[in-house]
Parts: sequence; C-alpha cells; structure tokens
Amino acid sequence: MAAWRANQITELGQTHPPDRRARPDKPALLPPRSLPRRRITAGTAGRVVILHTIAHIEVNAIDLAFDMAYRFVEQSLLKDFYIDWLGVADDEARHFIMLSDRLAQMGAAYGDLPAHDGLWRAADATKDDLLAQLAIAPLVLEARGLDVTPAMIEKLTNAGDPESNAALGIIMTDEVGHVAVGKRWFDYVCGLGRLDPVSSWHRLVTTYFHGDLKPPFNIAARRAAKFSAAFHGPLADRNDLVAPTR
Ligand SMILES: [Fe+2]
Ligand SMILES: [Fe+2]
Repeated sequence: MAAWRANQITELGQTHPPDRRARPDKPALLPPRSLPRRRITAGTAGRVVILHTIAHIEVNAIDLAFDMAYRFVEQSLLKDFYIDWLGVADDEARHFIMLSDRLAQMGAAYGDLPAHDGLWRAADATKDDLLAQLAIAPLVLEARGLDVTPAMIEKLTNAGDPESNAALGIIMTDEVGHVAVGKRWFDYVCGLGRLDPVSSWHRLVTTYFHGDLKPPFNIAARRAAKFSAAFHGPLADRNDLVAPTR
C-alpha cells in the first residue's frame, strides 16, 4: 500500500487472481451450522468471542476488497475504482490489526476459535460478474455489518470495555464509507449498461445471495452511505424472493 500511495505502482497489470486464497492454519473453518453456539458471557471470555468474530470478518473483508481491485482489471475501469478498493483493503487491514492488538491484550489471538467461510463463499458466487460482486460484497455483506455493529458496541459498553468499544466505533465509521464506495461503483456500473440500480440490485441479490436480508436495518447508517430503503426494503425477510439454493 505504501508503494501504491507513493505512486510507485504505475501499471495495473493483467494478473488473474487465484481461485483459493492463502490461509493460515488457524482458525479452523467449519460450515456455519457446525460452529459451536457460544453464549456471549460476561467477562473477558465473552469479549474475546465478539472480537474474534469481528477479526475474522475483517480478514475476509481484506480479501474481498483486494479481490474487487484486481479481479476485474481487464475491464479497464477508472483509476478511481482501484484507488477506492485498495483504500478499503487498507482500512480493513487496519481494523484487523486493531482487533488483534486488543485480543492480545486479553491473552488471546486470532485463530484461537473456529470460524466459518460463509462470507467468502457468498462473494465467491459472484466472481465472474462485476455488478453482482458489487451488489453482494459491499451492499449485502458489509451493509449487514452496519446493522449489527451497534448491538456489539452496546454489549461491550455493558461489559465496561472502553478500548474495544473505541475500536468498534472507528470500524463502524469506516464501514459506512465502504458501503458508500460500493454503492457509488454499483451505480456507476449500472450507468454503463443503462440499468436501473434498484431493480438490478433486487435481481442480483435474489440470484446470488442465498439468505435473508434481516431487519432491523440501521437506516441512519445506510442513508449516510447513500444506500436508501428502496433497495433493502422490498427484499426484507421475504422468503419467496430468496433464490433457490443451487
Ligand atoms: Fe472492516
Ligand atoms: Fe469494510
């Protein structure tokens, strides 16, 4: 990232991304339903569960942002597209480091608990379609983060953990920006194809996302990202609109 910022990288290249990402041995990746259900208990153990969960989301977010930046390089998008997604990847790496540091202060580390691969799998389904990838990664998965993070902040507040709380506050602010980046480029690519953004998003979500859009939505945060209720409202928890699993 330092070389990119210093303008030392001047060519976008044509390298094709690998099918599988490099992964450390830990955490063990289990199917989502096989993960042990953990009650968020009081005390350090409960906070470690929350922070480990978010650290794992950040690891996936790093991959997703870099993937967005290089997977579609042959489409010769505007340079701002790459600048935006490399900036998102940089933010996600900073988030991961913040959470790793916090886990270390609690005597824990990323990898101590099992995790699932659902985020990457959801995004992997769209790897051949830029508009679909924009519809799902930032505008379903990251937007979901805006909805659930305030409740995690509240749990950490109740647990009397101002340091973790501060980290999540920074993450929440940055994530509004990431959804805004996703929305900006989703609208841009829709414009290239003269597509209506709202109906296109509905079509892509029902095709590629095999889950529910679960209310309650963080309307204020979504609105701050210029992602209006016209998008998520009609699909919320409507099982008949969820595409059949392949
Ligand atoms: Fe993040
Ligand atoms: Fe993000």
